[in-house]
Amino acid sequence: MQRIPEEKIDEIRSQADIVDVVGSYVQLKKQGRNYTGLCPFHGEKTPSFSVSPEKQIFHCFGCGKGGNVFSFLMQIDGLSFVESVKKVADMAHIPLDIEISSGDGTPANRPDSQEGKMIEIHQLTSKLYHYLLMETEEGQEALQYLLDRGMSEQELDHFEIGFAPADALTVTTFLKKREVDLPLAVECGLLTERDDGNIVDRFRNRIMFPIKNDRGQMVGFSGRLFNQEDGPKYLNSPETPIFNKRNILYHFSDARQEIRKKEEILLLEGYMDVISGVSADFQNGVASMGTSLTEEHVQMIRRVTNRAIICYDGDRAGIEASFKAGTLLAEQHRLEVFVLQLPNGKDPDDFIRSEGAEKFAEVYAHQRLSWTAFKLQFLRRNRNLQNETDKIAYLGEALVEIGKLDQAVERELYLKQLGSEFELSMEALKQQLQQSVATTVKPKTRDYGGPPPEDFGDYPVYDSGGGPVYEGFHFQQPTQAPSAGLTSEKRLLKYMLEDRDAFIQIRNMMQEQEIDFYHDNYQALYTHLIGFYASGNDANPLALMDQLPNEVSRNLVSELEMMVVNTDVTNEEYQDYIFSLRKAGIERDIKEKEQQLLVASQQGEMALALELARTITTMRADLKRNI
Ligand code: CTP
Ligand code: MN
Repeated sequence: MQRIPEEKIDEIRSQADIVDVVGSYVQLKKQGRNYTGLCPFHGEKTPSFSVSPEKQIFHCFGCGKGGNVFSFLMQIDGLSFVESVKKVADMAHIPLDIEISSGDGTPANRPDSQEGKMIEIHQLTSKLYHYLLMETEEGQEALQYLLDRGMSEQELDHFEIGFAPADALTVTTFLKKREVDLPLAVECGLLTERDDGNIVDRFRNRIMFPIKNDRGQMVGFSGRLFNQEDGPKYLNSPETPIFNKRNILYHFSDARQEIRKKEEILLLEGYMDVISGVSADFQNGVASMGTSLTEEHVQMIRRVTNRAIICYDGDRAGIEASFKAGTLLAEQHRLEVFVLQLPNGKDPDDFIRSEGAEKFAEVYAHQRLSWTAFKLQFLRRNRNLQNETDKIAYLGEALVEIGKLDQAVERELYLKQLGSEFELSMEALKQQLQQSVATTVKPKTRDYGGPPPEDFGDYPVYDSGGGPVYEGFHFQQPTQAPSAGLTSEKRLLKYMLEDRDAFIQIRNMMQEQEIDFYHDNYQALYTHLIGFYASGNDANPLALMDQLPNEVSRNLVSELEMMVVNTDVTNEEYQDYIFSLRKAGIERDIKEKEQQLLVASQQGEMALALELARTITTMRADLKRNI
């Protein structure tokens, strides 16, 4: 593995901004000094994920995950430490001359795992397909087809488009030579096993689109016919441990940054639409793989943006699909949705190639229909509005839609439109609207903010001396107040993390009084901290995080860093916290002894029982001292 000098890592860590990095994966909202959003590591409806620009850390109060900018990328993209440093450097435009060996900076989660190997096979095969398309005689016809459709060589490179030859053994032979595990390639759906047991290529005579997951790892292919019509137009990879169409959006990982920048995602139907979109400078386009939008897709989208622009084919099927996707996004998940309708049944690819990028940008910016406007239009299809019955049915449904709007101004606007079109008075419409609102239930809007679950664990509960306070969240009082012991433990460690002098002071006091931390993970972090300061470091929680050997300790550091404490602390206060810890320890020991006492007396070991009872009395007295 490559080594990056410590100073370089420090430089990168201090120049990068965690808000930018996390912000390109998670939609963040400023709340007090921090940013909050929906945690990308576990499913949640109310945000408990927090990023601190001041401390340069993230922490989720829901699942407990936390860390610095490097550990964020390691976890979300499955990178190694070195790879994450490289990626942060790239994102912050800090030159760093190291080459990452495996693949295109899109390495596997765990390169040695089965999944990691499958991703590597895809990367390898994709390189072959691309080479065959661009550089060989066999690929000539496919290449010409793509160029004729208006694609440039640059685009073909950028999207790593390739060609699978008609010959049945091209990929098989290639992978065999590279000593790739063929049965694994079969499991990837790149090769298939014939009845006679021979292994052959699965994709033949097709133009190949590599498919990446949301981490940018290559996990599948889609192959398009181009010179004949025998078979399905697109053949996709089958479902595998790394590939499931339900949670793949074509181009999502590459679009993410632009989605965050534009604050909206462009939903398209086909790969060719995505590619043309990029050529027209719309890098925020993605497409599902021939399936309707799924719940999983919506979760992916919701993490990065609240606004979706649907631009499906302008034909009947495209309009139906827009309705379906829009309903899921706008009504079930409360995203802001707009629909672009292209004239004459065109798809975005046709439109951009024939009308030009500027015309598309114009439609995109100025001809988008709000979800309500689209729906009002959609409800008209299959209806003859000259017919009285149809008209009344339509008006009824339209009013239900208008009634769903939160803003009075919006309601007014659409009512006016209806009024002038059907020559109805505003009064009549408003009255009708009130009736229809009364009979329909309004969907709930999203609510923000929730308390972090406190882990009371096996901890004895003393007086509730005020639980920890975290920046950016307005927590309701937890039903059970956190114990003074737990709070003390947190505060002591926090002071030690942030100040070398405090560390020395507290460590001396704890050693003198022979006090340990109550919880194992606190004690473990304390031990690491001793090592960290012993090697001459100044207080630096961010650098410490990179040296911690496990996630549990890192999560604890980020949680402590999120805590807001009084910085002006006296030794008496440290002593109070240490007393609390001591009490917690004694209480635990008493419980243990009581348990032993119970067993001893049940078994008739009276001498032992008596001894235990005496010890317990002493311990109780001890507990009362120094309060
Ligand atoms: N699709 C699929 N399987 C098919 C047909 C379509 O998976 N047999 C998916 C592909 O993801 C495709 C999308 O549905 O990109 C849209 O289909 P279509 O509009 O037919 O294809 P385009 O991508 O527009 O391709 P082209 O313009 O080359 O026809
Ligand atoms: Mn098309």
